[in-house]
Amino acid sequence: MRFFIDTADVEAIRDLAATGLVDGVTTNPSLVAKSGRDFIEVLGEICALVPGPVSAEVTAIETQAMLAEARRLARVAENVVVKVPLTPDGLKACRTLTDEGTQVNVTLCFSAAQAILAAKAGARYVSPFIGRLDDIGADGLALIGEIVQIYDAYPAFTTEVLVASVRNSAHVVEAAKMGAHVATIPPAVLHAMFKHPLTDKGLDAFLADWAKTGQSILTQRADDAAE
Ligand code: E4P
Repeated sequence: MRFFIDTADVEAIRDLAATGLVDGVTTNPSLVAKSGRDFIEVLGEICALVPGPVSAEVTAIETQAMLAEARRLARVAENVVVKVPLTPDGLKACRTLTDEGTQVNVTLCFSAAQAILAAKAGARYVSPFIGRLDDIGADGLALIGEIVQIYDAYPAFTTEVLVASVRNSAHVVEAAKMGAHVATIPPAVLHAMFKHPLTDKGLDAFLADWAKTGQSILTQRADDAAE
């Protein structure tokens, strides 16, 4: 499973990119607004930091206007993936952009029927929003299972399932068990994935026992004797 980071915060991306765990980035208009920065400028910085795909969303709602915005975003860097909403206009734009060689992430997917349409429109990624489905009492992860099953049944569908609106580690684990290709993960959730109380407890115990030996790995007696 590939990990994208779901943020427009350049410092958070820089910090996590240093772990070597980040395969790409997703942004949306709300995340850009939260950053308080110029969209094109921040997009350029993110694309320079992360060589993998960086999703940038159009804000127009009519196909021709979406295409104009998409072409502007795609000029920022080669790794820009244009995000369009799962609407008839968005899928028309998706088909045109895909035919032009621009990768498209179809966002705001909330049903298997919508995911089939995105695949037929040639999307590189479809983004089902699982947290927002959970918020209304539906089962976001069940949707991931459905889409993975449907896409697996049709090898001609090359669209990848990009699990979005991720709220916790369990979302990532369960989506991975289902074979979802990518999860886009908020920085706080990725940091939480490192944590386990037994890791902390075990490390504390190892360090306490090691301190009792009075040794240092960099100044071992065997090395000293050989020198
Ligand atoms: C990613 O592409 C989506 O825009 C994002 O995951 C939405 O997450 P949210 O439901 O937490 O806003």
